[in-house]
Order: sequence, then structure tokens, then C-alpha cells
Amino acid sequence: MDIQILPSKRIRGKIEVGPDKSITHRAFIFSTLAEGTSRIKNPLKAADTISTVKVLESIGHRIIGDWKSFEVQPAENIVSPEIPLFCGNSGTTTRLMMGYLSSIEDGFFVLYGDESLSKRPMLRVVEPLRKMGAVIHGRNNDNNLPISIKGQRLHGITYSSKIASAQVKSAVLIATLKADSETIYTEPYKSRDHTERMFKAFGADIKVEENTIFLKPSKLKPFEIFVPGDISSAAFFIVLSAIHPDSFIEIHNVGLNETRTGIIEILKLMGANIEYEIKENEPEPFGTVRVSSSKLKGVEIPNEIIPTAIDELPLVALLGAFAEGETVLKNAEELRKKESDRIKAVVDGMKNIGVEIEELEDGFRIEGPQKIKGGVVDSYMDHRIAMLFAIAGIVSEEGVLVRNFECVEISFPNFLEILKEVLK
Ligand code: S3P
Repeated sequence: MDIQILPSKRIRGKIEVGPDKSITHRAFIFSTLAEGTSRIKNPLKAADTISTVKVLESIGHRIIGDWKSFEVQPAENIVSPEIPLFCGNSGTTTRLMMGYLSSIEDGFFVLYGDESLSKRPMLRVVEPLRKMGAVIHGRNNDNNLPISIKGQRLHGITYSSKIASAQVKSAVLIATLKADSETIYTEPYKSRDHTERMFKAFGADIKVEENTIFLKPSKLKPFEIFVPGDISSAAFFIVLSAIHPDSFIEIHNVGLNETRTGIIEILKLMGANIEYEIKENEPEPFGTVRVSSSKLKGVEIPNEIIPTAIDELPLVALLGAFAEGETVLKNAEELRKKESDRIKAVVDGMKNIGVEIEELEDGFRIEGPQKIKGGVVDSYMDHRIAMLFAIAGIVSEEGVLVRNFECVEISFPNFLEILKEVLK
């Protein structure tokens, strides 16, 4: 499906965005590890989280309810399904479940995914899991799906990861729950910490000291959780409001975990009119964000912010086009390993709509302010790229046509509805 997004003169609105994808995946996965029935309120209904639910059901868990609220009854015995488990487009489903399934003694599982997921690197998860005793094989020297897992009794490890990846970290932590000794896991910069927070809230023996996590094998207690709005979805509206000349947007009930609010920090560094307040804290902070038309200045994105804004970094190109001076993103080669090569997708797309931008191996450089003329871009079947260029259309001169827009289903199926709400 292609969509044409036309420029709009005024942006106003009090909105809520879809529930958090990362927390939804974890809520479903962790509830099946708990000793009893758990309840998940307001989970995200989107293609990625449906992949997680289906995988969990295929191994025997019962997930009952509708998308307002689910009850999860863990299986007494995990089933090794006859057919492979389909993870769709979801890296989080795949990597977290690799940790999970590796620790199911006597189980045998095969994971596969769509074209994009089948290209994404898995060795980053295979390596630490193997050190724990996992038996995993996959295509391209065990780096790509399909992957087979023969479950084992695992051992804790002391591991220092070269990359700040919450998916790798979570795979190891999940695998540790059923292991026979402690894991001490260190990452170079702090990536999103939903797993650590939720494990702690649900009774795991976990301690965090700066970038190091100490987790002892643990049982999780049954829990009830409300999933707040996704800051990664809110980010499109936050950026739209900051770059638009006549705008004010208030976003309610949005997750404000400080390992996810890098985009707000970037906007503050750029001088944006943005503020937020936290209303609730446990187990995940959430609250309100307000942002209005801003005069932005170019910045170089600090390294430690990168993991906390990892999914929002494509939006930095749009911010850079509106900011006075140079905006530089470096040390973000991870972007090439997401649902698409996001550095290439952003640079190609920006050029197609009349913006000058320099591609770097590990990021991009852009000199602003520039006008966005408009044109035709491809989503590369990547949900975040599709939404980025829809936002670009609103602030363009002639509009933007986004090809293959249907991929927004992956994380934010009602994106267009909410966008219409703020076009006044
Ligand atoms: C996620 C972690 C991030 C992020 C992804 C979701 C998670 O990936 O890009 O969209 O839920 O743990 P990495 O941790 O691999 O950077």
C-alpha cells in the first residue's frame, strides 16, 4: 500500500499512542515463566507482539483474553512443537526466545522469520548462550535464521558484551532464570532495562550496579502489569511537533523509562521546547510529554545516548534538516542491522525528498536548515522508516508518497488515525 501525506499548516492535540512494544513482548514472555497465572493489561496488538504470543502458545502456554487484558496460564510442561516457530519480523521475539528455549531441558525448537529477520545477526546471542552450555545451530555459521535449539541445563556466565543490546542482554538473563549458577553481565553503555526492572518487580534475585547486572537463578512470581504507551511511537509526534512552525502536542500515559528517553535528551540538547512529567513509577515509569514548535540547533549525538534512542535515531535526520548548523550521528553502525539498513534507508529517502545529507559508515551528517521539497520514498518494509517519511510529508512543501506503508502494522497499526487527530 502506498500513501500520500500532504503538508499541514497547524498541529494541535492531546493524544495517546499505542502500548509499548518492548514491555509487551516481555510481559507475555515473563508471564509464562511465572509460577501461576498472570494478567497483562493494555498490551500492544501489532504484528511483532502477535508473533511472540503465537510462539508462546505453540510451546503450550495458554493466553486467554482480548487485547484489553489477557490472562496467561503457564504450561506445566513445555511442548516441543512439530513445526518450526515463526517469529515474523520480530528481532525481540527471536532473540529473547533463543535464551528462553535454550534453557528448556530436553526441548527441541526451530525458529524462522521473514525475509528481513532472516538477514539479521544472531551470533551476538548464540555466543553468550553457548558459553552457558546452549546447543544452537543456524544458517551462515550459526548467525542467521532458521536456527535450531536443543534445550539444556545451562550455567551462569560472567560476560562482558561488546555491544549495548537489550535483546542480547535479555536473552542471557532469561536463560539464567533456569540455570544452575549466577550470571554477571556487563554492557558498554546502558541499553533499555525493562527486563531487569520487571525481573526485580516479579521477585527475581537481581542486582544492578551501573552497567553490570548480577542475576541468580530465580523463580518469577505471578504478576499483573499495565503496559504504558510506547515512547518509540510517541517519538514521531514529538519530533513532528518540535519541527513544525505552528504546533503543540501533549502525549499522555507514555513510558518514560530513562533508558528509553534518549530522543527527549537529544531534543533538549538541540534546544527544543519540550517537558515531561512522570505520573507513575512501578514497575515502569510513565507520564505526560508536552512539546511545541522549536528553534533547533545542530548537535553531535553523544555516544551514551545512542542505545537509549536506538529506534528513534532515524528521526535525527529530520531534526537535523530543521536545525541551524551541523547535526552528526556517528558510532551508530547498529542501525544497519535493524529491520532494514536504516542508515541507507534514511539517507536515500531524505535525498529523494530534496534534502542534502551525507552517509557515513556508522551514521550520517546533515547541515541545516533545509527545506523539504517532497517526493517519493520507499519504506524498505521497515515500519519506523515508513512513519519517519510520513512525518516528513507533513512538514514538506509538496507532500511525500511513502511506498509499502502497510509495514506500520509491525509496531503501530493506528499511526495514521492518530496522525489525523493532530492535523488541525
Ligand atoms: C529491543 C531492543 C533494541 C530495539 C528493538 C527492541 C528490545 O534492540 O532496537 O526495537 O525490546 O529489547 P537491540 O537491543 O538489539 O539494540
